[in-house]
Amino acid sequence: MLRMIDTHTHLNDKKFLGQEKEVIERAHEAGVAGLINFGDTMESSGRAVELSREFEGVYAGVGIHPEEAFPMTSADDDRLAAWTEEEGVVAIGEIGLDYYWEKDQDKRLLQQEIFIRQLDLARQLHLPVCIHDRDAHGDTMAILKKEAKGLRGVLHCFSGSLEMAREVLKLDWFLGVDGPLTYKNAAKLPEIVQALPLERLLVETDAPYLAPVPMRGKQNEPAFVRYVAEKVAELKGLTLEDVARQTTSNACELYGLKA
Ligand code: NI
Repeated sequence: MLRMIDTHTHLNDKKFLGQEKEVIERAHEAGVAGLINFGDTMESSGRAVELSREFEGVYAGVGIHPEEAFPMTSADDDRLAAWTEEEGVVAIGEIGLDYYWEKDQDKRLLQQEIFIRQLDLARQLHLPVCIHDRDAHGDTMAILKKEAKGLRGVLHCFSGSLEMAREVLKLDWFLGVDGPLTYKNAAKLPEIVQALPLERLLVETDAPYLAPVPMRGKQNEPAFVRYVAEKVAELKGLTLEDVARQTTSNACELYGLKA
């Protein structure tokens, strides 16, 4: 039986309000045994924590996304840290840099500041991190090499080069792939997936956005992580079962989930 984990999703997004139970049921029917909802603000982090209390196999990551950057205080750190004491909270994220949406230099500096701050927090809490990097590859890698010592994590929705992917592997981190891998304009991503060991890949949806082919254009949901895993299997000449087994084992290793 298939047993996949959608390692990066947002059932805490308002678009899913009131539909969470059905969406989780559809995920189970599709062979998705677990999912991790990531926060991008304090509010959505809190919602991710609530969902992890409510549903079996539903985990949470808490953190402030770069697009939502604000000057964090120690009270904010304490609030994030308090959430991580709960059993279902398995990571700090999503955190990182987004220079695609943010062109203002001061605000980019604020992104860097709270990125580093949350890496420190994750280290103190002994938790893995989930990284968002959009059009900020150079600074993301520079910060990880300098500030992420002793940490493990994933570059979610990976959009860098093969060279960058190899740098990530050197850190013994993971790369997350989702809907864009299935798109015709996927560019270098299929080649990167072919070149990397399956032991370093995680599958994810980033729902409600980025629905994979053949669901592109619909609202994405955790059940659709199967299409991402199928694409990985096709690219690597493996079966869906092989990909499901290994990527689930990877997710359990990184996030300390029960196998
Ligand atoms: Ni996300």
